[in-house]
Amino acid sequence: MSRILKFMGYVVLALLALIGVALIAVYQVSAAKLRQKHTVTAKVPPILTDAAAVERGRHIALTRGCLDCHGKDLGGAKVIEDPAMGRLYGPNLTTGRGGRSSEYADVDWVRAIRHGIAKDGHTLVLMPSVEYAHFTEDDLASLIAFLKSVPAVDRDRVPVKLGPVARVLLVAGKFKLAADEIDPATLQPAVVKPGATVDYGRYLAIGCVGCHGSNFSGGKIEIGPPDWPPAANLTPHESGRLAKWTQADFFRAMRTARRPDGTEISPIMPRNFGQMNDEELSAIWLFLKTLPAAKTGVR
Ligand code: HEC
Ligand code: HEC
Repeated sequence: MSRILKFMGYVVLALLALIGVALIAVYQVSAAKLRQKHTVTAKVPPILTDAAAVERGRHIALTRGCLDCHGKDLGGAKVIEDPAMGRLYGPNLTTGRGGRSSEYADVDWVRAIRHGIAKDGHTLVLMPSVEYAHFTEDDLASLIAFLKSVPAVDRDRVPVKLGPVARVLLVAGKFKLAADEIDPATLQPAVVKPGATVDYGRYLAIGCVGCHGSNFSGGKIEIGPPDWPPAANLTPHESGRLAKWTQADFFRAMRTARRPDGTEISPIMPRNFGQMNDEELSAIWLFLKTLPAAKTGVR
C-alpha cells in the first residue's frame, strides 16, 4: 500500500513539475513576443489642423471605438481586468500627467494607429490597429488632428499586464498582435471618398470583420471569450435576418440596438457604430446588399 502511495506521490510530483515547466515556457515565450521591437518607417499623411479636420477626427474617434477603450476624455480607461486575461487599460492619449502624447511626433501617431507599434518600438497589445491600418490618408490625418487637440487630462497610466490565459492564447497564436498581422511592405492606405456608395460602405465595414467574419456570415467570434454570443449573419442569406430587413430596420437596429421584432441586440455588438451618420450607415447598408448570400457561420 505504502509503495503504491509513494509511487502516486512521484507521479503527482512529476505532473506538477511538468506543469511548472510548461508555465515557465509559456511565460518566457510570451514575454519574448511582447518585448519584440519593431522598426517600421511609417509614411505620415499631409498634416491637417483646421477645425473641420478636428471635427471629422472626433467623429472617427467616436465611431471606431477609440473613446470606448481610451475613455470619453481620452485620459485612459479600463478595457479588461481579470485574473485570467490580465490588466489591460487603454492608455491616456492626452498631454496630461500619465499621457505620452507630448512626446508623440506625427510619425509616432501613425505608427501606433496604422501599425500597432508604440513610440519605443514595442508591440501594442489589444490596440486593434488591424481595423485602422487601411484608413485613408485623410481619415488618419483628421484623427491625428483631433487627438492633438484634446485637452490635457491627468490620469496615471496603468501598465498593461497579461494574465496566464492571455499568455497561453498569445503563445498559441489565438490572441494576435496587430504589429505581427500588419505587413508594412504591402500596406496601402485606402483611396475612397465619403459618400453613400458601396465602395465607402466596404471601407467602413472593415470594422465589422473581426466579429462578423471576412464574408460577413457571422457565427462564432474567434477573438472573443467563450461567453460571447455568435455574431449575426449580415449577408442576405435566408439563415440570417437581414435578408428581410429594410434600410430603416437596419438604421434602427444600429442606432437603438433593437431588431424589428423589438428584441434587444446583445451589448457585445459595439454601440459606437450607431453614432455613424446617415451617409455612413447608408453606405454600409448598400455594401451589405452586394454581399453573396452565405449560410450563418460558414466562413
Ligand atoms: C479595444 C480597445 C482599444 C481600441 C478600440 C483602441 N485602442 Fe488604442 N490602445 C489600446 C491599448 C490597450 C493600448 C496600450 C497597449 C500597450 O501598451 O501595449 C493602446 C495604445 C494606443 C496608443 C499608444 C499610446 C501610448 O502612450 O503608448 C495610441 C496612440 C492609441 N492606442 C490610439 C488609439 C486610437 C486613435 C484609436 C481609435 C482609432 C484606438 N487607440 C482604439 C486599446 C484600444
Ligand atoms: C465586437 C464584435 C462586433 C463587431 C466589431 C460588430 N458586431 Fe455586429 N454583432 C455582434 C454580435 C455578437 C451580434 C449578435 C448579437 C445578438 O445575438 O444579440 C451582432 C449583431 C449585429 C446586428 C443585428 C443583426 C441580427 O440579425 O440580429 C447587426 C445589424 C450588426 N451586428 C451589424 C454590424 C455592423 C454593420 C458592424 C460594423 C460596422 C458590426 N456589426 C460590428 C458583434 C459585433
